[in-house]
Amino acid sequence: MCGIVGYVATETSLRGSEVVAGGLARLEYRGYDSAGIAVAGDSFALVKKAGPLQALLDELAAHPLPEHSCAIGHTRWATHGAPSDANAHPHVSFDSKIALVHNGIIENVAELREELAARHIALSSETDSEVVCHHLALAYAKTGDLSAAMGDVVTRLEGSFTLVAFTPDDPQRLLAARRNSPLVVGLGDGENYVGSDVAAFVDQTRTAIELGQDQIVELTGTEVSIRTFDGEPVEGTTYEVDWDADAAVKGGYPTFMEKEIHDEPAAVADTLLARTDDTGHLHLDELRIDPAILRQVDKIVVIACGTAAYAGHVAKYAIEHWCRIPVEIELAHEFRYRDPVVSEKTLIVAISQSGETMDTLMAVRHAREQGAKVLAIVNTHGSTIARESDAVLYTHAGPEVAVASTKAFVAQITACYILGLYLAQLRGNKYIDEISGYLDQLGRMPGKIAQILEKEDEIADLARSLKDATSVLFLGRHVGYPIAMEGALKLKELAYIHAEGFAAGELKHGPIALIESGQPVFVICPTPRRPLLHNKVISNIEEIRARGASVMCIAEEGDEAAARAADHLITVPQAPTLMHPLLTVVPLQIFACALAEAKGLNVDKPRNLAKAVTVE
Ligand code: AGP
Repeated sequence: MCGIVGYVATETSLRGSEVVAGGLARLEYRGYDSAGIAVAGDSFALVKKAGPLQALLDELAAHPLPEHSCAIGHTRWATHGAPSDANAHPHVSFDSKIALVHNGIIENVAELREELAARHIALSSETDSEVVCHHLALAYAKTGDLSAAMGDVVTRLEGSFTLVAFTPDDPQRLLAARRNSPLVVGLGDGENYVGSDVAAFVDQTRTAIELGQDQIVELTGTEVSIRTFDGEPVEGTTYEVDWDADAAVKGGYPTFMEKEIHDEPAAVADTLLARTDDTGHLHLDELRIDPAILRQVDKIVVIACGTAAYAGHVAKYAIEHWCRIPVEIELAHEFRYRDPVVSEKTLIVAISQSGETMDTLMAVRHAREQGAKVLAIVNTHGSTIARESDAVLYTHAGPEVAVASTKAFVAQITACYILGLYLAQLRGNKYIDEISGYLDQLGRMPGKIAQILEKEDEIADLARSLKDATSVLFLGRHVGYPIAMEGALKLKELAYIHAEGFAAGELKHGPIALIESGQPVFVICPTPRRPLLHNKVISNIEEIRARGASVMCIAEEGDEAAARAADHLITVPQAPTLMHPLLTVVPLQIFACALAEAKGLNVDKPRNLAKAVTVE
């Protein structure tokens, strides 16, 4: 998820770089490991820097760009290639005829790269975006028309992309195109804008046009024309932006927390992107552990902290079921000080959103000293844990700004499942059709998460009714157990309420003593299609209700038994058991966020917490 800004005007001035830099500053939440701006007018200039946006702004202050009539800018959240000056956008084509910025993931980049190699076009970066830039230049060289060239190129691309490009040959024209990634147009007076979202230009104009799927837009300072990839003209719908600049940075949501919960369908979908080849086999190109070693693995140890550890706990059920490899979950800060049984046949899976958690990093170092191979599942490209591991499997949740982790959690589960299916494929535990079936199930989760998000108000009302609660318990069984613990953690860290997650079967071994009249208890109910699990949890609900508990149950649509047993029912779409955690966690995140807001708390920056705990 990167930030894109484009500007085009009838006049030449310094204004474009000023407008673009301002837009990038508001888009920095979308990506901040590198940034750059390219301009064209009487001359063509480009500046791009790894590091925070300020590094670019300092460079621009020291060396202002020449006057120009069009400018494009980009803040990067790395997906292909570590943060570096070379990998930063904008990219320039081999013939210096095209400057381009890109947000998204190109799935068929390998074949496009091979075509460039066949033409001896050298690459200066590791990015899929640069590959697209060179192909756009090749198409432009054929047609002499950037608009036609854009049409030729986008129809060949697979995956998700927002592209914005110009050629210095015609510095009063911008071309942009989108598929699966957002793009909006801003309409000005003698100048027009494009952006990943309205935050890119909301300080310049509030009149915007949202582009639809598979559309190309051509802009000059006075004209905007839209067409489909097939060339059909499109009448864009103009609307007035009613967000202020601050709200625009959060995508129109009042908090980053709410924005990121709503990002969850994309976080899962983007993490799944480009994982299979055209035969349907999983190929993890960031994975750099010899398959022969992975075939010998006789134990997996997940090391992580907090929410990341709960993601690993969910994955344990799936990986053990698919791969028949024992999976242990170790809190990183405990693992390091135990004398763990680790050998060269142990695969350590280090899960971390930030990739900088010191407890996890120290555990990674400890495990490697013991001869284990370490695979990191991280969300931040180029982070320390990623760099110090033997292999990396990146989540693509985009920057997670709110301290409490939400979209990274569902992306971590997704990545763990991809790893488990890859191991099952490699070791022959599952046939390709079975693996495709599980990937299809995962591919349906974004839509099911979106259905739950539509119930946000209902869940928030329930949360507000409990804003004076002093304790909430969470019960789950099987994959619902780590979700119960994650739900409790969310409530603790956002609403500062004592909360505890239990395995439902543990209730009668002590925790049931906590049940008294009015005690709020969340119960995550398994699918009725697993009667062994489901019926036991229904009995647990009846046991605690008999003792006065107020039960809020998360259950599948159509679960009549849960509807009868619970005081409050929140339904989620039907899904296979192993997919349930991606759904049942969402109401708990919404609940914790809404209850904290009802208490007037800062949900993005809860007290005492840091986004990355970089001290032991
Ligand atoms: C999540 O809501 C918490 N903020 C915290 O538990 C976090 O998951 C933990 O500190 C691990 O962070 P990491 O994923 O960046 O390593």
